[in-house]
Amino acid sequence: MIDHNEYIDKVRADFTKGTLGETDVLADPSEQFEAWLKQAVESEVPELQAMNLATVYDNRPSSRIVYLRKIHNHKFWWYGNYDSKKGQSLEQNPNASLNFFWPELQRQVRIEGVVKKATDDNSDNYFNSRPLESKLGAWASAQSYRLTSRKELEDKLEQLHKQFEGKEIPRPPHWGGWVLKANYYEFWQGRPSRLHDRICYEQQGETWNIFRLAP
Ligand SMILES: Cc1cc2nc3c(=O)[nH]c(=O)nc-3n(C[C@H](O)[C@H](O)[C@H](O)COP(=O)(O)O)c2cc1C
Repeated sequence: MIDHNEYIDKVRADFTKGTLGETDVLADPSEQFEAWLKQAVESEVPELQAMNLATVYDNRPSSRIVYLRKIHNHKFWWYGNYDSKKGQSLEQNPNASLNFFWPELQRQVRIEGVVKKATDDNSDNYFNSRPLESKLGAWASAQSYRLTSRKELEDKLEQLHKQFEGKEIPRPPHWGGWVLKANYYEFWQGRPSRLHDRICYEQQGETWNIFRLAP
């Protein structure tokens, strides 16, 4: 049997799939992100829409995976429960970062920015597009609060099934979208011998400065 600690101590990946130079990237990092996202879609990277969302509450960072549902012009949208830990963190401190890892392409993208709640229209449209079970799940789960048991959640779901039988399910007031407006990007392309390419963009007024970081 393989020892897990020995495995993670010894395993070495060599990154040979591509290179990234200052002149390879587009002037607009939002367009560059969409170009890479498109390549991830074409390469059928599993769960390519999964991103790590990092927030800070009372100086304590925390992170979790959420699904990116839309990207347009430096804005990144995702959805969830406003009363959750991430919701409360973003209420207290709207600065957040996103991280995508697309192993098949040996790429990572780091994004930083400021988060706001999405508009009610945007949240309604997305909520209404979800399957019935997900809609009921949004009502049933007081996300990030302690449960006494699994049964508590399942009983609540059953009660909601009865309550909403044959009726439209509205978006719960505690559920909706957020949108991060990016002010910093890093595009990381793995290279051999840990000499990776890291091309960054920092916003300065209307323009984006492009620079390279040491790996
Ligand atoms: C692949 C994957 C996708 C997820 N997508 C979402 C999502 O879009 N929205 C969401 O609120 N939670 C999503 N989650 C659950 C979160 O990781 C997390 O458990 C939840 O949001 C509660 O986090 P919080 O207590 O920090 O608020 C996802 C988890 C995984 C593993």
